[in-house]
Amino acid sequence: MDKNWKIETLAVQGGYEPKSGEARIVPIVQSTTFKYDSADHVTRLFDLEEPGFFYTRLGNPTTDAFEQKLAQMEGGVGALATSAGQAATTMALLNICQAGQHVVAASTLYGGTYNLFACTLPKMGVEVTFVDPEASAAEICKAFRPTTRALFAETIGNPGLNVLDFAKFSAIAQEKQVPLIVDSTFATPYLCRPFEHGANIVIHSATKYIDGHATSVGGVIVDGGSFNWANGRYPELTEPDESYHGLQYVKTFGPAAYIVKARVQLMRDLGMTPSPFNSFLFNQGLHTLPLRMQRHSENALAVAKFLETHKSVSWVCYPGLASHPSHDRARKYLPKGCSGVLTFGIKGGSTAGKKFMEATRLIALVVHVGDARSCVLHPASTTHRQLSEEQQISSGVAPDLIRLSVGIENVDDIIADIDQALAVSQK
Ligand SMILES: Cc1ncc(COP(=O)(O)O)c(C=O)c1O
Repeated sequence: MDKNWKIETLAVQGGYEPKSGEARIVPIVQSTTFKYDSADHVTRLFDLEEPGFFYTRLGNPTTDAFEQKLAQMEGGVGALATSAGQAATTMALLNICQAGQHVVAASTLYGGTYNLFACTLPKMGVEVTFVDPEASAAEICKAFRPTTRALFAETIGNPGLNVLDFAKFSAIAQEKQVPLIVDSTFATPYLCRPFEHGANIVIHSATKYIDGHATSVGGVIVDGGSFNWANGRYPELTEPDESYHGLQYVKTFGPAAYIVKARVQLMRDLGMTPSPFNSFLFNQGLHTLPLRMQRHSENALAVAKFLETHKSVSWVCYPGLASHPSHDRARKYLPKGCSGVLTFGIKGGSTAGKKFMEATRLIALVVHVGDARSCVLHPASTTHRQLSEEQQISSGVAPDLIRLSVGIENVDDIIADIDQALAVSQK
């Protein structure tokens, strides 16, 4: 890889360099295990003295190519692919949190993440305090405890679409000496590279734009290599790991300590591994990510502008619109576009919303975003239905909100479909 390659080139050529006579594209190595001739060689692999593969739960050549490409595109020192975006979030936190410890998170999160933080992590003894991401730094700082291990937020909140104030959040994380962990699923590395704005760890649901074709569920954790784990607060990274015969991650792996630990300790123990076939599809998806994100963003902006002038629509939320509260921040952090997801309120509330969703033809009612095909959803009755109405509102979901994931079809066809479905919704 040429260090100066731009992201469009990395998306196509990064992560995998075939030698003479080897497959031009990343092969699918659908094998759990790898054969060796000498016991010493296997010992060296287990001792992490040399790179190589011995068991697919811990590493696989197809998955490795995907991880390396994504790490290059984000500008990180390493990545770990996981079986789902949820697994990436869970592991990113458990890598540095244990019972009795604490996390501060923006309240504007994907419903599944909110549930994980509000219900499941507390059962494991890890408490999460939610903060309004628009609150002042002083206000957010009040949520921190001596046991706080990380600050967590989404680059573009799902589905509130608030753009993260990276300057404020990274300054708070620095002051409190905790890593800023950012879920950048909606932005993708093409639209925003959070490490350039002070984030320390980035996670993605690869299920969305990285795959881009609605074929595979997966996730990834990317390590920016910038956090000082040796600040005296993270002994799990500086002190010997008894479960790995005394391995000291920072001492042995330097800036890649966090991501190596996530793999050799947590992935070993929790096994949230992607299948090599899915990694192949994610890698395939990355090839066209820059092109797709350009088109998703252009189409979503055109749809948002159309909806803004429509008589049957009460409000439109898209950070690319001047009317969005995060618009200035979007121009700063998302200069290439604001991704493909937008939300709007339909006149006639829930009843009209249901009619609208049933009337669309090209746009499918699907519990998904980030697909090349346009999708529509009513989050309050689907993805966020496990939350109370209060929790829904706090995570940015109004009861009448319709979410559109604008695809890469011809925008005239998308708008025509919306127009006819809006007409049906008002009857
Ligand atoms: C922003 C965000 N993060 C994480 C997830 C969870 O990802 P997965 O469905 O791959 O587990 C989702 C899923 O919708 C999401 O939208």
